[in-house]
Amino acid sequence: MQSDDLKNLVEAALPAIAAAGAAALEELRVSLLGKNGSITALLKSLGGMEPEARKAAGAEINRIKAQITDALSARRAVLDSQALERQLAGERIDVTQPPRPDLAGAMHPLSRTQEELAAIFATMGFSIAEGPDIESDWNNFSALNIPAHHPARAMMDTFYLQAPEHARPPVLRTHTSPVQIRTMLNWAKTEGLGATPAPIRIIVPGRTFRADHDATHSPMFHQCEGLVIGEGITLGHLKGCLIDFLRAYFGVPELPVRFRASYFPFTEPSMEVDIGWSRKTGEIGGGTDWLEILGSGMIHANVLANCGIDPRRFQGFAFGVGLERITMLKHGIADLRLFYESDVRWLRHYGASPLTPASLHEGI
Ligand code: DAH
Repeated sequence: MQSDDLKNLVEAALPAIAAAGAAALEELRVSLLGKNGSITALLKSLGGMEPEARKAAGAEINRIKAQITDALSARRAVLDSQALERQLAGERIDVTQPPRPDLAGAMHPLSRTQEELAAIFATMGFSIAEGPDIESDWNNFSALNIPAHHPARAMMDTFYLQAPEHARPPVLRTHTSPVQIRTMLNWAKTEGLGATPAPIRIIVPGRTFRADHDATHSPMFHQCEGLVIGEGITLGHLKGCLIDFLRAYFGVPELPVRFRASYFPFTEPSMEVDIGWSRKTGEIGGGTDWLEILGSGMIHANVLANCGIDPRRFQGFAFGVGLERITMLKHGIADLRLFYESDVRWLRHYGASPLTPASLHEGI
């Protein structure tokens, strides 16, 4: 091949490459550099040349090949960035569009209740602790002084998971109380050994599970546990704390609160806590009736000992409250099942604005 031919080839190819679209560019690449392309053919023809001529022609052809390869990739880069520009322009979001108030989301009433509890107890120095839904039998029952024959362990109340033979199966926790155990065990290993230990003050909001289903029971529901451990903690602390909590939560400053002796395996003494209300009108704090709200008590010495805490040095109290129950009472919700149906009309009505967080500033 004459060097004129080579020159012509380059002069035709370069402008064609510079003007090509994506498909034409690929065609050009194949026709020049592909298996049957013209440059490839030129390289093949070197084989039949005299050594001297081959050297000169080889260098020239390779120079041209490099020139064309560069031109192809430069054009491809331009096409790629143009394609990206087009895609970005097509996907642009107009952030100046006005909001659509009819589509605003709302916070689920149970989430709102959890936030309210967190805000109320934060003012009394409590922090929030959490635990897993799946618990060991020991954390959920034994460590809490619940004996082997207790009805709470019966198959009909508790969801048991599979376990290897002879092992006690794990459970879906039937209450938030096992987080008491987890918290105390940790504390006993660290803080509880010190000369001036910082007390435990936690609340534990979370999911709980029991095999129950009707208008006031769901197999999955929510509780909030409370736990205080320290030196010199008395029944007076328990009462003051719960009275303040109930008055703040229901927004009734003089709400009557009654402590009634009861029984729980993990507390001694144990108390059920009632608030005043009117059975007839449902008004909280009005009327002369009593409504049971939560369980509480002083931590049983066995439970402290099970967690490695010396009951002669430390005392404490605990309580457990059903979140659905206090939410239903506060908002006049009649059927528990509505909490889980995800009916947007219901959620819009009972949901809270996520933009006004719970605070005690003007009352919960
Ligand atoms: N764990 C109890 C239940 O699920 C509620 C409860 C009662 C929790 C008394 C406590 C307590 O911490 O002191 O019914």
